[in-house]
Amino acid sequence: MRRVSVGIIGCGLMGMHHVVALKSLREAGILDIDFRAVSDVDEPKMMRFARAYHFAKSYTDCFRMLDDGDVEVVFVCTPTKYHKEHVLGAVNAGKPVLCETPLAVSLADAKEMLNFAERKHVKAQIGLVLRFHPTLNYIADVISSGRLGEVLSAVLRSDQVFPVGGFYVSDWRGDPSLSGGGVLLERSIHDMDILRWLLGVPTYVYATCTHYTEKNVERLVGMTLEFKCGALASVVSVWHKMPLRLSERSLTIYCEEGFVQLNLGTMGELAYLQSKGEAEKLNVDAIFIGFLKRIGLKASPLLVRYGTGENFYLEDYAFLRAVVEDREVYPDFRHGVEAQELVEAAYISSNNNVRVSLPLKENRFRETLHF
Ligand SMILES: NC(=O)c1ccc[n+]([C@@H]2O[C@H](COP(=O)([O-])OP(=O)(O)OC[C@H]3O[C@@H](n4cnc5c(N)ncnc54)[C@H](O)[C@@H]3O)[C@@H](O)[C@H]2O)c1
Repeated sequence: MRRVSVGIIGCGLMGMHHVVALKSLREAGILDIDFRAVSDVDEPKMMRFARAYHFAKSYTDCFRMLDDGDVEVVFVCTPTKYHKEHVLGAVNAGKPVLCETPLAVSLADAKEMLNFAERKHVKAQIGLVLRFHPTLNYIADVISSGRLGEVLSAVLRSDQVFPVGGFYVSDWRGDPSLSGGGVLLERSIHDMDILRWLLGVPTYVYATCTHYTEKNVERLVGMTLEFKCGALASVVSVWHKMPLRLSERSLTIYCEEGFVQLNLGTMGELAYLQSKGEAEKLNVDAIFIGFLKRIGLKASPLLVRYGTGENFYLEDYAFLRAVVEDREVYPDFRHGVEAQELVEAAYISSNNNVRVSLPLKENRFRETLHF
């Protein structure tokens, strides 16, 4: 495959996740990646990052990096508030972009980003990394095969340590003007995407949020969602303050003739499936190897399965391969907007104590953020 040269905006946690992923793809001889340029407003941090991963160039002004003809594709890994300007800049320069999730601080901004990328015909992938989770893909296939019968309900519990400090070195998630919200937007955007992926088109959302009084960001969300297929989902999403419990997701899907349980997090990964016979513990290692094959990768000691399955290299591989082979990216900004629509509906529901129908009409979008 031909060489592809990469630029990264934002040398923080996600910038590092991506560069480590890209490094493992390069070292495994899977992709020929040129670490071309990085950008960050924090110059000393950027210089440390550039040196550690041998990037050829560095820019404190990312728009200068976007003008650099040697940079072919761009990863946007900045705090959520800045995604819009960075993505619009990359798209305007005609550079394929992978934007970290969530797309933006509001649905209106996310839609503007999608429309611009579509109008300019620039490939735009959203960092919904769980779309590359091998076991979730396995479960999605089982459900869509109809083997478990009609889906009746999904129950999703999602929790994470309040991500300011500790493992999450920076504190911008405590400031809703930079993050756009709290646990609902920052974490449960992934949960909303999982539900859309597994259950299809949503019709109604009812949600209640409570906030950190001192921070004005929601730390607890309870939601009920209804889907066109008739299924109901309930979600509880929490930001807690247990530093040694980083995060966990537990998903249960009840179907007419089957049952799936998936746990990702503190206990590693555990998955059970029950249909006609006894409950069967799924072999998640075998599922991982099967998934590698499915997306065209050979198993290699450099491609390890992480505990929670958030294999950023699978996401990055899919993105760069789509660029090199000039194919459509997946998941694209449309998936990002669809997940964000559920988040927006939940904010509207919680703020007004109403059940909100979907799709959201443009005049129902929050004109200002909910805080
Ligand atoms: N996909 C996921 O599972 C996942 C997980 C964590 C974070 N995220 C998202 O990734 C994004 C980044 O989060 P993070 O944890 O890496 O944050 P971070 O604070 O660790 O890193 C952000 C970096 O961006 C830099 N920055 C800020 N403004 C900038 C600007 N205008 N130009 C260039 N650089 C700038 C900061 O100096 C910092 O180094 C956020 O949108 C977050 O929501 C996604």
